[in-house]
Amino acid sequence: MYGDDIASVLISEDEIAAKVSELADLVAKRYPADAPEGDLLLVGVLKGAIFFMTDLAKKLTIPTQMEFMAVSSYGSSTSSSGVVRIMKDLDKDIAGRNVLIVEDIIDSGLTLSWLLRNLSSRNPASLEVVTLLRKPDALRTQVDVLHVGFDIPNEFVVGYGLDYAERYRDMPYIGTLHPKVYGGEA
Ligand code: XMP
Ligand code: MG
Repeated sequence: MYGDDIASVLISEDEIAAKVSELADLVAKRYPADAPEGDLLLVGVLKGAIFFMTDLAKKLTIPTQMEFMAVSSYGSSTSSSGVVRIMKDLDKDIAGRNVLIVEDIIDSGLTLSWLLRNLSSRNPASLEVVTLLRKPDALRTQVDVLHVGFDIPNEFVVGYGLDYAERYRDMPYIGTLHPKVYGGEA
């Protein structure tokens, strides 16, 4: 579909599906189906987490509700600065709710630690994180992540929601980009 833009398949569609099921089992075990706090509230971070969020919700055996947030981090297109701006806030109050942040990828961890501080100030009953991908740099930051799908090498990846300049999100697998796409070598 994208010709030879994709250098390699890092995680196949089948591997993603198996991991999402595994994560759904772990998450479902953690929250009672009839919690007094109400249904588990999945907070998806737009746009990268959309595929993961919907696939996870379909596999979860407990009732969930979904909210979305869009944040933008000041910095270059491929690295974040930790200064975050809310582009789209939650529609609902999360006070007293069990909240699970659903992330596509944690790189430096700066975006997520900002998000955790921001959402915890709204007094949820609980606040946890599940991320599909994590890069090595994330291990240097103090972010408590409930569950991680895959630890991946420090390479820029696309597909399954992840983009480069808004392209490649629609790929059903996760791959690495050929350097020519960045305007590098041919
Ligand atoms: P930090 O560094 O704050 O950044 O953890 C997390 C955000 O950076 C983006 N990001 C990527 N997006 N492929 C992408 O498509 C990547 O390899 C990648 N690494 C970081 C992403 O928006 C994530 O939420
Ligand atoms: Mg993102």
